[in-house]
Amino acid sequence: MTAEPMDPVATASEPGSEAPAMQDVRALVFSIVDGLAAALVKLRIYRKEHPRVVEAVAAVSAAIARLPLVDGESGLRLSVTDDLVVHRGEPLVGASLTATRLIATITAHGGGGIEIDSTVSDDDVAALLVALATRSRDGGDWQALNATFVQEQRRTIRLLPPFLVDDPDAIDALARPVRLYQSCMDRLQDVTVAICHGGTIDFGPVSELALAIFDRADDGREPLINLAVQEQYDSFTFGHSVRVAVLAMTFARTLTKDRDLLVRIGTAALLHDCGKALVPFELLHARRPLDAAERREMSRHAQLGAEVLLDHDDADPLSIAVAFGHHRSCDGSGYPATTRDMHNLLVTEVVKICDVYEALTAARPYKRPMSPTRAYRVMLGMGEHLDRQLLLRFIVAIGLFPTGQVVRLSDGSIGRVVAQSEDLRRPRVWVLFAQDGSPVNAEAGLLLDLTSPAVQELYIAGIVDERAYAAERMKAVSASHDQA
Ligand SMILES: [Fe+2]
Ligand SMILES: [Fe+2]
Repeated sequence: MTAEPMDPVATASEPGSEAPAMQDVRALVFSIVDGLAAALVKLRIYRKEHPRVVEAVAAVSAAIARLPLVDGESGLRLSVTDDLVVHRGEPLVGASLTATRLIATITAHGGGGIEIDSTVSDDDVAALLVALATRSRDGGDWQALNATFVQEQRRTIRLLPPFLVDDPDAIDALARPVRLYQSCMDRLQDVTVAICHGGTIDFGPVSELALAIFDRADDGREPLINLAVQEQYDSFTFGHSVRVAVLAMTFARTLTKDRDLLVRIGTAALLHDCGKALVPFELLHARRPLDAAERREMSRHAQLGAEVLLDHDDADPLSIAVAFGHHRSCDGSGYPATTRDMHNLLVTEVVKICDVYEALTAARPYKRPMSPTRAYRVMLGMGEHLDRQLLLRFIVAIGLFPTGQVVRLSDGSIGRVVAQSEDLRRPRVWVLFAQDGSPVNAEAGLLLDLTSPAVQELYIAGIVDERAYAAERMKAVSASHDQA
């Protein structure tokens, strides 16, 4: 058996500058879709000439200009259908999450997509976004918009006709998790709005979503956490809470089979940070670590959340206990402080572990995500803050290479972890890219059970940060282009 690395770290670079691989194209298209969505949001807030809009638009046209380097294509052709962005017939699930509004604006004009040439100017990108952001009068004016573009000599942008779907069922299956994730974000937003306005929280829809997450986790398809990690324009209270809920339910399933209890745990996890609705916006969205006074202010969210929930007769006591106790240590330290001894419920300890793990492994504007192994090491060093026995069970449940993680195998191929095995270091891996970087046909597929003697020489050589990896590949491709 070959020696395995004890500490898999995020590996961001791939040696050499071989032919551009499919993942580079996907990453670039993803970043363009992200950029368009972000620019569209900024355009709703600021005028077209505002530096933030100008900067966002310039980033999009610069990314589109790189397409011929990576893809050999002279431009971008994106279709939209339902809740999905489709590129060359392939739905981009991750990109679709950040592009909900972009998709909505295109379909509001009766269009089925957009086409942007790689020579597009910043001005034309801005013109396209302004046209999309302008409310459609009759819901079917995509042709009129194209005519205006031609009139204005803008020949690098155009809207596409409505997208015709070959296989509506397949598209629907892909769109479902996107909708579920989006619904979670929307419902949590509703909760926040209710709390901010002193209104009433409707717990029913939150529990329904916890149940939907539970059912989804049950059927063995791509886990929701895969989508959750793609999310980057958080409002991170929402994305964080969804990820904590998914983790808490995944972990709790290994502790109980009681479906009702699992849904209550998921609901409590979704609501655990609801008190943050009452924390000043600037603190919540600070793109830097907080100072001591700000941390004190932020720490009030646990008590505030519990108080808000206590004001509701129909709040689940489990949710109240979790909101109150998820920053309290097993030795009574942490916050909120209490004058008497008070021990957390087991459910609070479950959510607390997931909360810490999510915070460590998530990307934040001011920090890179930590690998699961490092996160476990940090958590094991937290002494009394976490219940050690429960933490060990959490590590076994989530694994060293969590389900959904993209990993590099020792032979250079790249795959996604799809299930854990009894050996923490050897999960089941679905191979996405072969050793030479070529994509593995999803139909033919290649599922590796790393515990199988047939592949005992193979091991996981590192985890792959998909974005950093794609960015490094982009640099390699650009460098080889410059030299040519
Ligand atoms: Fe919290
Ligand atoms: Fe939290």
